[in-house]
Amino acid sequence: MKFYILTLFPEMIMDGLNTSIIGRAIDNGFIEIEAINIRDYTLDKHNKVDDYPYGGGAGMVMQAQPVYDAYQAIVNRAGHKIPCIYLTPQGKTFYQNMAKTYATLDEVVLLCGHYEGIDERVLEEIVTDYVSIGDYVLTGGELPAMIMVDAIARLVPGVLHNEESTTQESFSNNLLEYPQYTRPETWNGKKVPDILLSGNHAKVDEWRYNMSVERTRKYRPDLLEDN
Ligand code: ADE
Repeated sequence: MKFYILTLFPEMIMDGLNTSIIGRAIDNGFIEIEAINIRDYTLDKHNKVDDYPYGGGAGMVMQAQPVYDAYQAIVNRAGHKIPCIYLTPQGKTFYQNMAKTYATLDEVVLLCGHYEGIDERVLEEIVTDYVSIGDYVLTGGELPAMIMVDAIARLVPGVLHNEESTTQESFSNNLLEYPQYTRPETWNGKKVPDILLSGNHAKVDEWRYNMSVERTRKYRPDLLEDN
């Protein structure tokens, strides 16, 4: 899967995604990430990409032309249109099943805004999906884009190794994950639950399922209501 990220801060994206599991996935060719600097497409002689909002008000608005040309350059290279997600607090809130759907795509463009947003006219031309990562306002779309890439990329076949499987994790079946323990058997006076040492896999599965339900009821009862 290939992620194109339209941004004013390409180094922030690449620095953030080049490590750990996502970095390994890039090295192994399971995903590709290309951060494209919108500023490279400005026609302004001072390299400007923003201007004052019509009608007045605080802040600056990113201009349509550089954003449009940066997106068109991707389309021209690919030879076809590519879904374009604009990261904005006004979008639909991102959640696990959305990540699963996006993980089936071959290519996606993530558009990161800055300042007071992007000229509405270019959004109307190129954006297919408006996505927010939560009900709070950040200074730009870069962190949201990185969060989306991480959540989507780990669902692309080959990115996670078997031992990092996604089948038992939080939100699969609308349940939070059960608690995990590793050695030593006793730490700080606390012992690992006996059932996990029993070797009885059916009992372990039953205990884990019950713990998942209990945790979800306690911390995220809204997930159970969705069922
Ligand atoms: N840009 C600024 N805040 C954001 C948010 N919460 N989600 C997505 N993009 C954003």
